[in-house]
Amino acid sequence: MRSYQKLRAAVPQLVLSQEEEEEEDENATTSTPAGRSKLAPWWVGSGLLITAVLLSTITVWVLRQVSRGWHGPAPPSQCYLVPESHRYDCYPERSVVVTQELCESRGCCFIETLPAVGGKRGVPWCFYPPNFPSYVVQSLNQTALGMTGLLVRREKAYYPKDIQVLRMDVEFQTNTRLRIKITDAAKPRYEVPLEVPRVMKRAENPIYSLEFSQDPFGVLLRRQGTGTVLLNTTVAPLIFADQFLQISTTLPSRFLYGLGEHRSTLLHSLDWNTLTLWARDVAPTESFNLYGAHPFYLLMEEGGDAHGVFLLNSNAMEVALQPAPGLTWRTIGGVLDFYIFLGPDPNMVIQQYQEVIGFPAMPPLWALGFHLCRWGYGSSNETWQTARAMRNFQIPQDAQWNDIDYMDGYRDFTFDPQKFASLPSLVEDLHKHGQHYVMILDPGISSTSPRGSYWPFDEGLRRGLFLNTTQGQPLIGQVWPGYTAFPDFSNTDTHQWWLENLQRFHTHVPFDGLWIDMNEPSNFMDGSEEGCPPGELDSPPYTPAVLGNSLSAKTVCASAKQNASVHYNLHNLYGLKEAEATASALIQIRGKRPFVISRSTFPSQGRYSGHWLGDNRSQWKDMYYSIPGMLSFSLFGIPLVGADICGFSGSTSEELCTRWMQLGAFYPFSRNHNTQNEKAQDPTAFSPLARTAMKDVLLTRYSLLPFLYTLFHRAHLQGETVTRPLFFEFPWDVATYGLDRQFLWGQSLLVTPVLEPGADSVLGYFPQGVWYDFYTGSSVNSSGEMLKLSAPLDHLNLHLREGSILPTQKPATTSKATRGNPLHLIVALSPRTTAWGDLFWDDGESLDTFERGNYSYLVFNATENIFTSNVLHASTEATYVTIDAVSFYGVQEPPSKVLLDGQEKPFSYLDNQVLTISGLGLRLSQGFSLQWL
Ligand SMILES: *[C@@H]1O[C@H](CO)[C@@H](O)[C@H](O)[C@H]1NC(C)=O
Ligand SMILES: *[C@@H]1O[C@H](CO)[C@@H](O)[C@H](O)[C@H]1NC(C)=O
Ligand SMILES: *[C@@H]1O[C@H](CO)[C@@H](O)[C@H](O)[C@H]1NC(C)=O
Ligand SMILES: *[C@@H]1O[C@H](CO)[C@@H](O)[C@H](O)[C@H]1NC(C)=O
Ligand SMILES: *[C@@H]1O[C@H](CO)[C@@H](O)[C@H](O)[C@H]1NC(C)=O
Ligand SMILES: *[C@@H]1O[C@H](CO)[C@@H](O)[C@H](O)[C@H]1NC(C)=O
Repeated sequence: MRSYQKLRAAVPQLVLSQEEEEEEDENATTSTPAGRSKLAPWWVGSGLLITAVLLSTITVWVLRQVSRGWHGPAPPSQCYLVPESHRYDCYPERSVVVTQELCESRGCCFIETLPAVGGKRGVPWCFYPPNFPSYVVQSLNQTALGMTGLLVRREKAYYPKDIQVLRMDVEFQTNTRLRIKITDAAKPRYEVPLEVPRVMKRAENPIYSLEFSQDPFGVLLRRQGTGTVLLNTTVAPLIFADQFLQISTTLPSRFLYGLGEHRSTLLHSLDWNTLTLWARDVAPTESFNLYGAHPFYLLMEEGGDAHGVFLLNSNAMEVALQPAPGLTWRTIGGVLDFYIFLGPDPNMVIQQYQEVIGFPAMPPLWALGFHLCRWGYGSSNETWQTARAMRNFQIPQDAQWNDIDYMDGYRDFTFDPQKFASLPSLVEDLHKHGQHYVMILDPGISSTSPRGSYWPFDEGLRRGLFLNTTQGQPLIGQVWPGYTAFPDFSNTDTHQWWLENLQRFHTHVPFDGLWIDMNEPSNFMDGSEEGCPPGELDSPPYTPAVLGNSLSAKTVCASAKQNASVHYNLHNLYGLKEAEATASALIQIRGKRPFVISRSTFPSQGRYSGHWLGDNRSQWKDMYYSIPGMLSFSLFGIPLVGADICGFSGSTSEELCTRWMQLGAFYPFSRNHNTQNEKAQDPTAFSPLARTAMKDVLLTRYSLLPFLYTLFHRAHLQGETVTRPLFFEFPWDVATYGLDRQFLWGQSLLVTPVLEPGADSVLGYFPQGVWYDFYTGSSVNSSGEMLKLSAPLDHLNLHLREGSILPTQKPATTSKATRGNPLHLIVALSPRTTAWGDLFWDDGESLDTFERGNYSYLVFNATENIFTSNVLHASTEATYVTIDAVSFYGVQEPPSKVLLDGQEKPFSYLDNQVLTISGLGLRLSQGFSLQWL
């Protein structure tokens, strides 16, 4: 069973690890696993550790085979040595019942264990024995950026088109980031068309070290500071066949996050949990592959360090998690292209990830207002009535939306000439009120309208812009308008045609933003009107655990031809490429920052669009799941995210909808959306009590727009998260690792929503420190504990962390009106009386204001008893708005006087230690200081 190799001629400068030298003798004399000392892990005896960071010049390895290969089934004694949690699945196929015979035909161990409860796959019965043959490191040479190596497989694996020789490129890109890429050494394979940063110079002082196991090939990555092993891929063999690529690793802890898009708790279960990544149109359900694909995880190590791993691969894949703790990547195409980010804190990991995939776009300010939509507005007049009702009750609203109702026969770029005849006037009216209009757009283009009557199809066909079948004809599926063709957004000519369509429509209906739905792409048929042809793309040797058990389930055939490649490779990128085309079209049409919300997403999507969490239901549990959903998208670099407030399908209740409006007022993208044939659930549809609670919480959101906008600026500038889990700010506090019923805006604003029916209080965790009630300034000093907070139906708990300064503004019913109102700064002092905050301010909609310098940036600082507002960058915009008041939370003694730039000013001081100075009337562009004595 066991194979090992000895090094004959190692170059002298290579430093072998000590373990390896000690074990050389044992290697020579012991060739059976039974003879191996229990204390020495097989790693130690199995060959070579190549300490990569120590390589300084070109090294050549000459290998001599001493003994190799397994011969027949694994001996049970060896198999029983593998603890259950460490059994890496050798037979992941779900289409067959794995028998001992099948298992042993792969040379794997077969041991039956109790099936897992609930029909889940538990401990695999067929698993790899130690030292299962894999690739062998044949050479490893130094390069300018790292290393390049050849990996050779001497025995066939069991998937067709096994690739015999692989090339591995390692780049030490920065001190906290490395890339390991493994691909076919002989010929190019499909790679994700994503522009990644080019690195010119090898990192000088990496905080990681990398070693390789030579035979079988394995990677061992450590964090140098702590010695923590971040990756150890020797636990199972690397497999690299044309349509089956697999690599496994142990994990240093069970605190694993990311890997979207899925409906789950924020912290993933490692209890034999397989997550599938293949864009799919389905109402969010636990354990299904959903709309987007994000092959990225973040892991919290012991001691509070964090790292992240990104597999740049767009093929259908599975990530299998197991309690070892361990993880297996299993993809059916492309290459293994890993980026690893060493943080060391979780915020830095996410920033480092976004340095590779791109920082998110700066949204227009109005995108951060409240959005209202439903499916089933019967007409533009009915849509208009809702917007009017909102105005009558003075409930904030920035954008009115329409679902597919507006279209004529559900065809893109049309509107119903009867029911939506007044749509252009509605949009004009919204604009007059400082509001915006957004409508849905699906990728499927009706293919059955009479020739000459529907330009989008005729022209798309003429220019050859649709996905084709293997026969070279446009692939026809079915979506809302009936039979449809699917634009190939991997073709840049399609972007031009998409723009022209949008331009034509915009001359009739001057929309402001676009909601791109159904872009997995969704298809009401499986594959096409003709199904899919036989072949290895639609019927690959291995199909990951996708819903429907087929790649073409509710989408187009994997074999469909696109300009950049086959759909098999590009499927997960469909929403990304459509978003790119859409954002670019909006810029060209409106000349302002684009607003796009997309259902399907892929890494780097944040550069072009936000995301809503799809077709949820009006249930309490769905409201809860929106928090881990939203926070996961923060990790994916798509900060503009939210769920359908009050739930999309099913029927909401007044209580659920009120609670959900409170939570939803703190989604970065805040939209109430409803399905057709359900009763209205916009705020005006409820009793005065509920309506008022909804209005109040929206006004609170609007009062915080300057803060939220600044967080988006920081996200755009350097990849900070907008909403973030508590553990991002308190990584040393393990009690925060599983929290996903609360979240933060930035570093400091803690949101603790009620997620249960019938509650008038809520439990929330407060990490150590002083926290202030946002509304009153009353403080609580937590030792790191769960606190019970009063939460009547009209109250959302918001707390400010000590040491922060929040810019707020007197709210109005649109972001445009709010923008002109005076600001009120809230200073939450730490016990050492320090605090810090900032403000980014621009015109709210022009392109690239930061890049062009058309913005203002202010830093607020409180130290001891002095507060200063420092204008680090100014533009004229900042002269149109004033700072009217500053409140200090946590001023322990009433001051005798307050000085504004040395001049005495009246103030108020409350028993709960809140000092407020109002009536300041200072222009934002003018720095100032306040001192209390
Ligand atoms: C790597 O994994 C192997 C196989 O499970 C184990 O024997 C070895 O001790 C691990 N190495 C380290 C440094 O954790
Ligand atoms: C490493 O260098 C040796 C000797 O120059 C060469 O034969 C081998 O192909 C090189 N390997 C790679 C992966 O470049
Ligand atoms: C919409 O309202 C306008 C103005 O009140 C009216 O003229 C028109 O007939 C209405 N359209 C529909 C479809 O009800
Ligand atoms: C699809 O077919 C059309 C002709 O029908 C052709 O012009 C176009 O280039 C094809 N596209 C791809 C990606 O094969
Ligand atoms: C089509 O794909 C090829 C190869 O990927 C690329 O070079 C070309 O620019 C693409 N054409 C368009 C119009 O997108
Ligand atoms: C805050 O202001 C004080 C005094 O004005 C200054 O010494 C300190 O460096 C400032 N701190 C920051 C973080 O700007």
